[in-house]
Amino acid sequence: MEPQGFRYIMSTILTGLRANSNLHLGNYMGAILPMVELQKNLKAEDQFFMFVPDLHSFTTPIDHGMLYQNSLENIQVYLAAGIDPNQSNTYLYRQSQIPAHSELTWILSCFTYFGEMGRMIQFKEKSTKQGQSVGVGLFSYPILMAADILLYGAEYIPLGEDQKQHLELARDIAVRVNGKFADQFPTGLLKVPKTWDKQLEFANRSESVKIRSLSNPAEKMSKSVSDPKGTILLIDSPSDAAKKVMTAQTDNEANIQWNWEFQPGITNLLQLHALLSGGSLDDTKKTWIGQTRYGELKKEVATLVEKFLTSFQENLAKISSEEVERILEKDEVEVNKIANETLYKVQQAVGLRKL
Ligand code: TRP
Repeated sequence: MEPQGFRYIMSTILTGLRANSNLHLGNYMGAILPMVELQKNLKAEDQFFMFVPDLHSFTTPIDHGMLYQNSLENIQVYLAAGIDPNQSNTYLYRQSQIPAHSELTWILSCFTYFGEMGRMIQFKEKSTKQGQSVGVGLFSYPILMAADILLYGAEYIPLGEDQKQHLELARDIAVRVNGKFADQFPTGLLKVPKTWDKQLEFANRSESVKIRSLSNPAEKMSKSVSDPKGTILLIDSPSDAAKKVMTAQTDNEANIQWNWEFQPGITNLLQLHALLSGGSLDDTKKTWIGQTRYGELKKEVATLVEKFLTSFQENLAKISSEEVERILEKDEVEVNKIANETLYKVQQAVGLRKL
């Protein structure tokens, strides 16, 4: 059943774009491009919320002097990758520009149990890594994340496995609050996001891609890989990036095969080839499988990487941070209205506003 007062919408999708610097090719292929594809395939009635969770950014220590600019740069990367800011069903915004997030977080935190928060695996992992000075924000941030989702009645939230428990928390909070205020809002106050299984089904539309490190192909490409030769940053000079491909670690088989277990280096290069050539994986496999000269494959992938980075960086240079600010400020006016509608209903339910 649709919650009371909720406009009927085909699907509402919401995605958080973390303001991290140094995005790399793995982020681009695994997270950014799938969002561009998703946006292209939306129906006019769908709604697509893309936001920078800038309030989340300092649950662990950061360089605060960089945060404002990093948020803009992250949006800039998405625009350069092909997100269309003018598509009428898409909203781009910064969490901290929508005060309803903070206010709903407080209200929801009063309906969240200390015990259930204590079971959050990510908190346990991150807090033990950090040592003694762990902020309360790190503990309570899943409630802010629940508010991020519930304010917009989002059903589909593309997330990594590490965020599964946080999604489930958002569902639990919504169900609990709906139950508590069922008398005043018999058809439900908050829309409950889809279950994790449904989220996976939904995400399968854009099959998940994981690029491996070039220097250590047993591992994912990541900015924490200590050897920078393994990671192609989106800001790398195209010729340096090509050199990294040429020195990629492979194997001694002298036989190109698609095999993540035994030939991860070569398989990674085949994957990059398929993604960057514009053809399908089958096309790539047909051309290369069974070939023996690794150098030729490397050379071709290096050229593709060089071309890709050149054109991506050209796109990026065309978008100024002033333009990004203009886009965000325009959308943030609309987003505030949407978020405030939900917040107002919750304020009514808890007795802060007249029913
Ligand atoms: N916690 C998410 C992450 O670490 C980022 C995030 C914050 C988010 N709020 C969100 C993602 C709401 C989706 C929906 O990746």
